[in-house]
Amino acid sequence: MVSEETLMESAKAMLAMSYAPYSHFHVGAALLAKDGRVFTGCNVENAAYGPSNCAERTAFFKAVSEGAREFTKIVIVGGKDGVMGEMCPPCGVCRQVMREFCDPETFEILCPAADGSVTRFRLKDLLPESFGPANIT
Ligand code: THU
Repeated sequence: MVSEETLMESAKAMLAMSYAPYSHFHVGAALLAKDGRVFTGCNVENAAYGPSNCAERTAFFKAVSEGAREFTKIVIVGGKDGVMGEMCPPCGVCRQVMREFCDPETFEILCPAADGSVTRFRLKDLLPESFGPANIT
């Protein structure tokens, strides 16, 4: 199984792939699927701003488009001009995308920072009382 250290290195490597000419804030993500595959992502901005996509959603959409629908954890890193800074928690839209495919009780979100700390969340704590697939059946 892929180690958390490997996932963190994969997320950091994605900072170099980030397309962020407007915010200059680079974000990288590495998403671990239950089948052991790792899907990486970076933020991809747009001159019209609205169509921009976060690193986490890039990783999720790559994964789902490749047949993965079950996940255990994601690592997210970010920083100005691609230099890792403080921890980068996921935005609200990305939390809702995670909710679509992940068990809020078990899915882990790891947010490393430049000081070497790794803050670890469960999705249920970042998105309490959430609306998920079961709510529309
Ligand atoms: N961003 C992410 O990629 N993930 C997050 O969870 C927070 C924000 C991106 C979006 C935008 O390209 C830049 O960071 C500044 O908000």
